[in-house]
Amino acid sequence: MNFPEYFEFRSPARVMAGPGITDNLSSELEDLGVRRVFVISDRILASQGLLGAIVSGLGKVDVELFTDVPENSDIAVCEHAATRAAEFGADAVLAAGGGSVLDTGKAVGLLLGSGGRLLDYQGVGVIPPKRVPVVAVPTTAGTGSEVTPFAIIRDARERVKISFNSPHLVPSLAVLDPELTFTMPPRLTASTGIDALTHAIEAFVSTQSNPVTDSLALHAISLVFKHLPVAVANGSALEARYAMLVAANLAGLAFANALVGCVHAMAHAVGGLFGIPHGIANGILLPVGMEFNLPAVPERMSEIARASGRDALPENAPLAVRQLLAECSLPTRLKDVGVPEDGLFSAASVAALEGCLITNPREATEEEILAMLKTAYD
Ligand SMILES: [Fe+2]
Repeated sequence: MNFPEYFEFRSPARVMAGPGITDNLSSELEDLGVRRVFVISDRILASQGLLGAIVSGLGKVDVELFTDVPENSDIAVCEHAATRAAEFGADAVLAAGGGSVLDTGKAVGLLLGSGGRLLDYQGVGVIPPKRVPVVAVPTTAGTGSEVTPFAIIRDARERVKISFNSPHLVPSLAVLDPELTFTMPPRLTASTGIDALTHAIEAFVSTQSNPVTDSLALHAISLVFKHLPVAVANGSALEARYAMLVAANLAGLAFANALVGCVHAMAHAVGGLFGIPHGIANGILLPVGMEFNLPAVPERMSEIARASGRDALPENAPLAVRQLLAECSLPTRLKDVGVPEDGLFSAASVAALEGCLITNPREATEEEILAMLKTAYD
């Protein structure tokens, strides 16, 4: 049977999109009953003047700014921001930035509504529904965090990344404004775009995929292949930027439900151990993971190949990804991004314990993961 015995699809977030829509979010905040909003962002966005434009469009609400979110947010930052937000008397959070900023916004919304320490909310089914409204404004086109139930926050003391997971973490409102992504540099555009592609491809071949996630993932795949090279080459190409923001959002909705697979398992491992940026690691590992999965899901690979614009042959799917990486000038070998060769063994043992493997279409042993990492190395 081509349909699952059972499936469900969850998407509680309201999504609004359009060029320039962040210039006037005042009525949206009014609808949410917001009076005092705690705005979370990073220094780059603040220095580019983009944050000022968003804030001036918030209308009569009182605003407190917090722009100290680092590249990889951690628990201490979230708790510090939540304390500041509580002192301010915030009744909502608006997070504008990349994945780290959006995930921080989700964590602060949770702490502001439910109190306690962030680590109290680790595990399954522990996050309560009580939280303040969170508005998510992505400024990269990759994570899809604006619609996912996940918040990835680093525990700096333990040097691990913790994935908080609950439908109550999904933002109340996701705002997609492609004009906010014009200033994203080419390399970040490319690596975050490949992260979105990895979400879509892994969701499409996942054992948890269903007809709804399939349609989202396939459309996201075709949008990335068509528009990512243009967005990388010309940052202010409005159509390409808009398409990439939509692609990342569709991929986010897909993998929020279907989850991901072995590529993310390995990318998390090399990211945690050697600090390789998430999108860069995904780009290197995606074609290798697809070649590994190909015998388990040849028809799905044919559909991915077709969505990429190639003939619908399974082997064309990883080929298309390799060509896209080359077009976007992204690295293709782990040795070129600072992974030590003798570190592959520890990466394999960390990846083998990753929960993402559960939904990978082909079971991967630690030896097989090591073999994939070696292939990706040089
Ligand atoms: Fe990802």
